[in-house]
Amino acid sequence: MQPRSILITGASSGIGRALALVYARQGISLSLIGRDRERLDAAAAAARARGAEVSLGQLDVRDQDGMAQWIEAADTRRPFDLVIANAGITTGLAPGDLAEDPRAVRAIIGINLIGVLNTVEPLITPMCARGSGQIAFIGSIAGVRGLPYAPSYCATKAAVHVYSESLRGRIEARGVRVSLIIPGFVKTPLNDRIDAMKPLEMTGREAAVLIQRGLERGKAVIAFPRSLYLLARLSRILPVRFVDKVMAHFKVNIPKTQERIR
Ligand SMILES: NC(=O)c1ccc[n+]([C@@H]2O[C@H](COP(=O)([O-])OP(=O)(O)OC[C@H]3O[C@@H](n4cnc5c(N)ncnc54)[C@H](OP(=O)(O)O)[C@@H]3O)[C@@H](O)[C@H]2O)c1
Repeated sequence: MQPRSILITGASSGIGRALALVYARQGISLSLIGRDRERLDAAAAAARARGAEVSLGQLDVRDQDGMAQWIEAADTRRPFDLVIANAGITTGLAPGDLAEDPRAVRAIIGINLIGVLNTVEPLITPMCARGSGQIAFIGSIAGVRGLPYAPSYCATKAAVHVYSESLRGRIEARGVRVSLIIPGFVKTPLNDRIDAMKPLEMTGREAAVLIQRGLERGKAVIAFPRSLYLLARLSRILPVRFVDKVMAHFKVNIPKTQERIR
């Protein structure tokens, strides 16, 4: 499917911005959501230069009413045929830390999980009524198995994975595709903050091209790099304490987010 009206959250940076640019061309309408006005304007300018029509929503994905109003109005003007719930943050632990800051944990749940719901919920019923459309979720390989360096990040991504599976089972019979994207390491500002080994890291554009291709094929799961994803899947069936021991060997430092609950 070649979408013509696309909503992307977190389009001011990283994977979201790269996605906006791979889709941007004549005849495509992009609705881009983020908080930082300057970065949003820069992404919009780059997309318009490729011929796309762009509208911007300077919104916090945690704002349920603001998101619903903006998305419903945009969907009425030009019905979305693809939504990509991408906006997200990370938080984690430094070596020696035992527990995450509870306010940071609630902030990441607000953005990475509630923010995803605020993005897709307004479109489920209208897309099902039209009998067409595609809903895409950005998960993470970190959501396949809990990692000791980022408990709440892994938990939000695992929740998104399971939510998308449930939704797929419920609405695909109504003609609406649901796709879960499971990236490994992608070079973005989010990922740059993490101090760790990053095997098979790719650029935002490389990731965006793989995502676009997978979505156009209507794939249920778009996971890359394949070998890292299969390793993560394998870690789920190996004895848990063995996997815990292996994970404990890696030195990983993930700064805690400065985001706090609002
Ligand atoms: N990079 C990786 O290695 C990797 C791997 C797996 C999964 N992911 C996932 O990919 C997604 C994008 O991450 P990225 O690496 O591209 O990070 P990024 O470059 O930091 O971009 C994050 C985007 O999310 C937006 N955002 C964050 N909080 C928001 C909020 N409360 N309301 C609205 N927008 C918000 C940011 O907008 P503002 O700057 O305007 O706030 C920004 O556009 C995330 O869900 C992340 O978990 C990334």
